[in-house]
Amino acid sequence: MIKKVGIVGFGQMGSGIGQVAAAAGYQVLAREVSDELFKKGLGYITKSLDKAIEKGKADQALKDKIVGNIKGTTALSDLADCDLICEAVIENLEVKKTVYKELDGLCKQETIFASNTSSLSIGDMASVTKRRDRFVGLHFFNPVPVMKLCEVVKTLDTSDETFKTAFSFAELVGKSAVTAKDSPGFIVNVLLVPYLLDAIRSYERGLATREDIDNAMIMGCGHPMGPLTLTDFIGLDTILYIADIMFEEFKDSHYAAPPLLRRMVNAGYMGKKSGRGFFDYGKK
Ligand code: 3HC
Repeated sequence: MIKKVGIVGFGQMGSGIGQVAAAAGYQVLAREVSDELFKKGLGYITKSLDKAIEKGKADQALKDKIVGNIKGTTALSDLADCDLICEAVIENLEVKKTVYKELDGLCKQETIFASNTSSLSIGDMASVTKRRDRFVGLHFFNPVPVMKLCEVVKTLDTSDETFKTAFSFAELVGKSAVTAKDSPGFIVNVLLVPYLLDAIRSYERGLATREDIDNAMIMGCGHPMGPLTLTDFIGLDTILYIADIMFEEFKDSHYAAPPLLRRMVNAGYMGKKSGRGFFDYGKK
């Protein structure tokens, strides 16, 4: 049974996972490389809760409960007695493998490891541990407190028991869970990324203005955001990274990144987080 949840990497995604887990009553221990980064992650949570309180959608008691359930540490060894580890560090297989190798030696035998990767192979990460059967993907969506989905990813080695525990954890933190195979992009990104790349290609070819491309999809299809704004929101570097991994895996031109995307990333236009992507968000 899951009681204590360790979060490794307390950035935008890790703090969102920590927030929904703490709201569901789990004890959350978040590990970041410095106190400053932990505080930054906690800041995302308090900001989103303050906004909800302002709108009358949450109260101080809920905020106190969530914040009270979250503790921080810089020592990976403090996560040794966690029942579930949700890892949301940088999307780099070698970095993730290093983290898992170390965690595997520290954590109790029953601890389940779950990666929030969007496109890397869960099986590759599990292969550096002695707990391949206790390893899953739990892929949440940004912003985690708002988006309703969690993809639960089963590798060739994930045991039924681990999968069931992870699936019910996703549901207990308030998400609709779907089952996906350990294949690049899982369900959502395998459909979403080619759509975003096609929108960029269309803009690159001069099909329409960026505003009209976005408005067409908002007004015509009822999407909450147009594809170029969504790319800015997710991060151009993230989309490029996922596209490159999927292209490498599938060798299918659907996943080939348009030259404009690569040029923009190389020029430092990462989207909202850098202040500029397809649209301008003011200097960062
Ligand atoms: N934390 C908590 N709550 C937030 C939030 C955050 N970071 N951002 C927005 N919200 C809440 C707001 O408080 C508001 O709540 P309310 O309805 O209770 O008042 C609600 O979300 C709507 O927000 P806003 O009114 O400020 O703005 P919008 O109506 O434009 O919604 C949005 C913002 C929820 C981001 C919406 O535009 C949206 O759903 N966009 C699409 C997001 C999306 O597709 N995400 C998935 C990306 S893919 C991914 O993550 C996978 C990865 O692998 C790439």
